[in-house]
Amino acid sequence: MRYKVLLLIAVVCLSVGCKTESNRQETNSPKSEIATKSNYDEPYRSQYHFTPPEKWMNDPNGLVYHQGIYHLFYQYYPEDIVWGPMHWGHATSTDMVHWEHKPIALYPDELGLIFSGSAVIDKENTTGFGTKENPPLVAIFTYHLMKGEQEGRKDFQTQGIAYSLDNGDTWTKYEGNPVIGNEGIKDFRDPKVFWDKNHKKWVMALVAGDHAKFYSSSNLKEWSLMSEFGKDKGAHGGVWECPDLFSLPNPTTGEPEWVLLISMNPGAPNGGSGTQYFIGDWDGTAFTTEQTEPLWLDYGTDNYAGVTYNNEPNNERLFIGWMSNWNYARDTPTKVWRSAMTLPRTLSLKQTKEGLRLANSPYHKVNTLVNNQEPIYSVDMGSFIQKDGIQYKQHLIEFTATSSNTVTLMLGNEQREFVSFDINPAEGNMIFDRTNSGVIDFEESFGAPHFMPYTPEGKEVHVRVFIDASSIEVFVNDGLYVFTEQVFPTVPYHLLTLTGKEDDGLSDFKIKAVQSIWNK
Ligand code: FRU
Repeated sequence: MRYKVLLLIAVVCLSVGCKTESNRQETNSPKSEIATKSNYDEPYRSQYHFTPPEKWMNDPNGLVYHQGIYHLFYQYYPEDIVWGPMHWGHATSTDMVHWEHKPIALYPDELGLIFSGSAVIDKENTTGFGTKENPPLVAIFTYHLMKGEQEGRKDFQTQGIAYSLDNGDTWTKYEGNPVIGNEGIKDFRDPKVFWDKNHKKWVMALVAGDHAKFYSSSNLKEWSLMSEFGKDKGAHGGVWECPDLFSLPNPTTGEPEWVLLISMNPGAPNGGSGTQYFIGDWDGTAFTTEQTEPLWLDYGTDNYAGVTYNNEPNNERLFIGWMSNWNYARDTPTKVWRSAMTLPRTLSLKQTKEGLRLANSPYHKVNTLVNNQEPIYSVDMGSFIQKDGIQYKQHLIEFTATSSNTVTLMLGNEQREFVSFDINPAEGNMIFDRTNSGVIDFEESFGAPHFMPYTPEGKEVHVRVFIDASSIEVFVNDGLYVFTEQVFPTVPYHLLTLTGKEDDGLSDFKIKAVQSIWNK
């Protein structure tokens, strides 16, 4: 750590007198009526990640595509910037990159608050809520009855459904709710439903404390339990939440493999909330896997409760996560709104020396925000790169490193705040360190180094680092290794160094500007 402080001081000295170039873009208010409450220019306001105009947000919910629109519903409390009675907030997009804010979709009712869940297009009108010509958009969510929890009962979480016949603008709750009652399981929530086309039925993955349960239905209203998974598999340092089950092609055979995502809080490898995954098989009734050890989607501490889109038109598996962590989500230093979503990501399976792994890398349309034609700065080859004077808060940094070297990327400011990212092939790890990243004192675990195991595959590693106003996402080798991290520097980082040990250690280094999504 000491050498990093020295390096940073050296960089500060070198840059004395150097005029900082601001790349801040003027933001216009988004057009919707809700959004007029914010100019989207507050300190720490993400410029190219989704945030609500104001107030508290957590998990993404009801991710579904329908008639040209990607829906993003989310856990929302419209009265405060801390968690409270949950609603489903709503935003829509045609490209998964630019978002339009919509009115709140689902409000709490006498059965409870509206916790996390999913949405499907009922194409065959199995519910009878719509017609085949105008199929209903059906949301499946958890009701959380506060009164039941306060009375110390265990059966206060049940599952409900609601539908929309105008592509998400207005919603009607089903009068037969709840569709799945509770026989005394305290944590019984977060239904993810999909149409199992091989077995021609609706399938729901639900979590129940320390395991997942799978239900089936012909009409989304009546459900029967098929199987359970996970009591003796994977990590169990906390409560299982937000499951997702889907198939992805095996990169070698092209045959489908099944992936089960399970968010868990606490107990993630770098503390608090994190998402583990299992790769296995789904036979229409049960999920099975030979995997014994837990695998993690992201070793940063700010990618939680992520799930994937239903009905995606190009057959891609698109993922969005909540860019925060229950350890400190309520305490981060923003005042108008709280927390952002991760960049939309494409999930894929990759064959590695250690077996199949789930990679997540930015959805290709994120590239439309990046000025690829004219990089701000570019170096073909070198072992030490320094580029000061850019306010690093809306940028993409890319480079290639040879894997035998230790490589360190540092971003800092004259307040001696800095973050560093190390690739250590010899030690078999990567480290993202935000110990001195800026405002860290809102919660004791926030300012810490985070570790990720790393087994070099070939000679080269390709690194992409997306920096927004209060987040850094590091993607290595097309999303095989990922850190998603919030950071709150008191002034933007504007000093950059990249160091490797050998002359040919680093190549294709580029700094590119990323556009605001609120600046349409
Ligand atoms: C995950 C979670 C879910 C729950 C929701 C409540 O972050 O705890 O399990 O449905 O948040 O807001």
